[in-house]
Amino acid sequence: MEYFTTTGKASRRAVDCVIVGVYERGKLGVGAADIDAAGKGYLKELVRSGDVPNKPGQCVVLTGVPGVRAKRVAVAGLGKHSKLDGTVFRKAVAAAIHALDGSNTRQILNTLTLEPVKDSSPYYLARSSVEVMGETLYRFSEMKSGRKKKPLALSKYGHAIASRGDTSRSALGAQHGDAIAAGVRLARDLGNQPANVCTPSHLARVARKLAAGNGKLTTQVLSEAEMKRLGMGSLLSVTAGTAEPAKLIVMKYKGGGSDRPIVLVGKGVTFDTGGISLKPGPAMDEMKFDMCGAASVIGTMAAVAKMKLPINLNVVVPAVENMPSGKATKPGDIVRSMSGQTIEVLNTDAEGRLILCDALTYSRRFKPAVIIDVATLTGACVVALGAHRTAIMSNNDKLREEIFAAGDAAGDRGWPMPQGDEYAAQLKSNFADMANIGGPGGGAVTAGCFLGKFTDGMDWAHLDIAGTAWKSGAKKGATGRPVPMLSQLVIERSGALP
Ligand code: BES
Ligand code: MN
Ligand code: ZN
Repeated sequence: MEYFTTTGKASRRAVDCVIVGVYERGKLGVGAADIDAAGKGYLKELVRSGDVPNKPGQCVVLTGVPGVRAKRVAVAGLGKHSKLDGTVFRKAVAAAIHALDGSNTRQILNTLTLEPVKDSSPYYLARSSVEVMGETLYRFSEMKSGRKKKPLALSKYGHAIASRGDTSRSALGAQHGDAIAAGVRLARDLGNQPANVCTPSHLARVARKLAAGNGKLTTQVLSEAEMKRLGMGSLLSVTAGTAEPAKLIVMKYKGGGSDRPIVLVGKGVTFDTGGISLKPGPAMDEMKFDMCGAASVIGTMAAVAKMKLPINLNVVVPAVENMPSGKATKPGDIVRSMSGQTIEVLNTDAEGRLILCDALTYSRRFKPAVIIDVATLTGACVVALGAHRTAIMSNNDKLREEIFAAGDAAGDRGWPMPQGDEYAAQLKSNFADMANIGGPGGGAVTAGCFLGKFTDGMDWAHLDIAGTAWKSGAKKGATGRPVPMLSQLVIERSGALP
């Protein structure tokens, strides 16, 4: 895909489609006003007739608009002029791209980037425009046979800017958006693949392939034997019941000299049956998404490498399958983690924390500037925050706020949840240093507290994405979250934000 910017009049550009916006009460956006002037009031008349929708999420595609060189004009609703923010902007772009999907549009000029979007900039508008396009056109159809609908085959995507001074920032936004969209796509693909394809070995293969031919990126994969030598008794207890070999995937991107790296740790349970604490049948298929934390950190790595950010980033993925069998770990079993702390496994379905704790201990060797784990960790998190926001927990208030702000800026939002001794006390065990569950109250928080017992002395945050990583129901599928949030954080820390 080629991206471009232009300060020229939308009516003069000979592209397949121009995207313009109209507000409620018949107010035309900047691009729409130009189209209207070129057509001597044609658009305004249409709007007056009531044939042009103006609510966010609505769009109509017009052809043969007089005075306009573009073949099509996609008119997207922008809602109330005073309420145009990043969320409405995204909705409008999505509606336009969706309306064009299936047409043979190859070049698009998007003029919505000229609108006065609250708290935004040419960089963010171009970036989210490209991200939204990727999101809207995404399909997972590799496993459907038969004829497939042809996806929109775009070759050129342009953004209108108000002045030449905005050119480089808008172009950088498109480039970053393109990289983030690729990371999101990879994360969604990995999440959507069934567990008989997306095994720990498959994740390792994908991570290796990403590094192949990239001088700044390396992938290393540790086997079960190596994990055993490292003393990862907690991680290995989760994989005891399955025939699929567990992998510890370590990716390193070196773009920042000798700086301490950001370390991202992603939960990679490629299928979570619950183990001996077996889950109930309904919707158990959705536990193929239990590796979405892994997918999101690998996706973020792909995005960061594509942006060539001047920073060091390490990604660590403990990848296992959680199955019941004659060899599986049983409730009450006590295991020794790599940190030396012992854990009473009261529930084999609280397995995410058991693999993450050893991955966190392993990561100490990197002397992280900051370490963030990402996991579909608890059903309790879905009860607390639903599907809209990722839970953010941390042992450092500033870090938690930094991640929160990054989520807002990226349109991939989170919400803070507490940590504290009173919650951690719920993890007491009669027989070991701790239990792996903390009782019925505050399940998302006590899961975080469990991980907190392995992160002493590190600046650490935990993202519970159980609600945000995938959608259930008719639109079932992985979302790719929180790749945008994490990418934003890395972009900010690398100093690459314009
Ligand atoms: N992968 C699940 C968490 C989950 C459940 C995510 C439902 C999304 C939807 C995790 O491994 C798990 O089973 N957690 C248990 C913990 C409990 C046993 C303390 C849970 O949430 O029920
Ligand atoms: Mn589980
Ligand atoms: Zn799980």
